[in-house]
Amino acid sequence: QTTLRGAADEAGIDIGIAVDANQLQNNATYRNLVATEFNSLTAENAMKWDATEPSDNSWNFSGADAIVDFAEDNDQTVHGHTFVWHSQTPQWVQNLSASAMQAAMVDHINTLANRYEGRVDSWDVVNEVVSDNNGAMRDSFWRNTLGDGYITTAFQTARAADPNADLYINDYSIEGDNAKSDRIYTIAQGLNSQNLIDGVGFQSHLILGQVPSTMEANLQRFIDLGLKVRITELDIRIQTPADANELQQQANDYERVVSICAELADCSGVTVWGLRDADSWVPGVFPGYGAPLLFDDNFGKKPAYNAVLEAL
Ligand code: XIL
Repeated sequence: QTTLRGAADEAGIDIGIAVDANQLQNNATYRNLVATEFNSLTAENAMKWDATEPSDNSWNFSGADAIVDFAEDNDQTVHGHTFVWHSQTPQWVQNLSASAMQAAMVDHINTLANRYEGRVDSWDVVNEVVSDNNGAMRDSFWRNTLGDGYITTAFQTARAADPNADLYINDYSIEGDNAKSDRIYTIAQGLNSQNLIDGVGFQSHLILGQVPSTMEANLQRFIDLGLKVRITELDIRIQTPADANELQQQANDYERVVSICAELADCSGVTVWGLRDADSWVPGVFPGYGAPLLFDDNFGKKPAYNAVLEAL
């Protein structure tokens, strides 16, 4: 195979890409690479609450529609991101009373899940609900207003709205076996006993040379619950400027992560969090780091690209 897409199709898994709706519509080189190299799309921002419902019951589907239309035209699956998150959620939601917040959440999930029913294959129902503090639940406005029950309510709502979509819980720093992934495990187990969840998304915003040694075993324990696993937001950041050795190490790291997914029967796929290094969120959020993706600023294939092609 000569493309990631060809290799992933043959392996029967998704190779996904987080896309920006504007670039997809306005940049032909970007568009062509997204179409030829990937068989699955995720909206990097266009399906988030601040993009889709900036004020109460005032909807904007332009970016999300463009991405879903593109996927349909190009025979790609869509992994939806995300219904309920503490970030990129407008202030009007955060200021609501408990009963109004719960109603807004249910309405938001119903509207998106119904609009894209049959076109979005899977959803990150809740995102980043566990904190970085020894596996404690995150003190978000959701939890502070509604209590932990909002998580079950979100999954129940999504399940009823689109019974055929796969429903995921998604988080970062849960790739290895640790207190945070233990908490996700407990939550997933509880939801699964009510048949409300199908999979666990491991964001995998990794640092060069730090693929957790327990990653494969950790993913396996979720599969042993009867769930799918998915690498949902893969990037591997390097202290910039990156030299040739580091780009080779990055290739090895990508190969390891993609191999883990490719070898696990119930890993639904790997989504890379952006196309070119220049598109990445990393430099803006992790000062001094960058170059985390498969293509360089000029759409050139990096060593990591070839490593992923090998691993699929
Ligand atoms: C990031 C996007 O990449 C940025 O463009 C945006 O400004 C902020 O959000 N975890 C997630 C993603 O679940 O939605 C985040 O995406 C990265 C971290």
